[in-house]
Amino acid sequence: MPNRIKKLAVLTSGGDSPGMNAAVRAVVRTCAYHGIECYGVYRGYEGMIDGDFQIMDARSVKGIINKGGTILKSARSKRFRTKEGREKAFQQVKEAGIEGLVVIGGDGSFTGAMIFNQEFDFPVMGIPGTIDNDIFGTSHTLGFDTALNTVVDAIDKIRDTASSHNRLFFIEVMGRDVGHIALNTGIAGGAEEILIPEEDLGLDRLVDSLNRSRTSGKTSSIVVVAEGDKIGKNIFELKEYVDQNLEDYDVRVSVLGHMQRGGAPSCFDRVLASRMGVKAVESLLEGKTTYMVGLLNNKMELTPLDNAIKGKTKINLELLRVSDIMST
Ligand code: F6P
Repeated sequence: MPNRIKKLAVLTSGGDSPGMNAAVRAVVRTCAYHGIECYGVYRGYEGMIDGDFQIMDARSVKGIINKGGTILKSARSKRFRTKEGREKAFQQVKEAGIEGLVVIGGDGSFTGAMIFNQEFDFPVMGIPGTIDNDIFGTSHTLGFDTALNTVVDAIDKIRDTASSHNRLFFIEVMGRDVGHIALNTGIAGGAEEILIPEEDLGLDRLVDSLNRSRTSGKTSSIVVVAEGDKIGKNIFELKEYVDQNLEDYDVRVSVLGHMQRGGAPSCFDRVLASRMGVKAVESLLEGKTTYMVGLLNNKMELTPLDNAIKGKTKINLELLRVSDIMST
């Protein structure tokens, strides 16, 4: 490895996700392994602008692989969207002698990294961290697996009360633009219907489907709704519609919200974070820049940041079909 870089920095940015700490740990320890100094930047790009960073050694990341959230804190920086803010950030890293940056975050964070690279020719590498799994170039983003397990656990619990009262529950899960969480947890939680932004079922078909399930002998039902689903204005409007059109049903709504972003990362996310951290640092040391590390066919691969941001993750049509068959 040519190893011309002597100092790297790592930050977490955008919405946090379980596994971010494990990725920070992996970046710091890979730097230590290769004799590179590593800075942890606090509050994402905000901290970069303010010079809020400190050296981290291998021991400073002990005991965090199992922790949710991010010890580096996260932010969505408005200042970094301005040229002035980015210039300030560049001055700060230059003064500290930092020569490359690992950004753990989603597409907004990657866009910032890409612009920063273009303006200052500064080496950057992305690690996809978001529970939504909406980033192109990886089968799994960090935190997705943990969020799935959290949601399935919640659905199981709601099912207990739903079946005791013969109720229909609409459960809203995260996924601003995509339905990956809804689709997977809907299948795993035995949902009657799964509503995702990628597929507009339509209110009438939803009502027909719920009617069919009642007549087929089902006494309670779960409908998993992705936050970004367009079928109604929101989940409460859906409930209203079903209340008005299906008198037999006693309907309740449960919005799972931010609990989906917390909690200890799953084994899968810890391993993924460790692999991504190693790959990100070693790629920078090999002189590569402006890529995102990702998991493709169980291998660590690099995707140009531009593609990772612009590429669209496709919903798995086979899963949609499985879901339809399972709700028979
Ligand atoms: O991007 C992840 C995500 O969890 C989305 O699914 C959700 O819409 C959003 O973050 C909410 O983020 P915040 O509350 O931090 O603005």
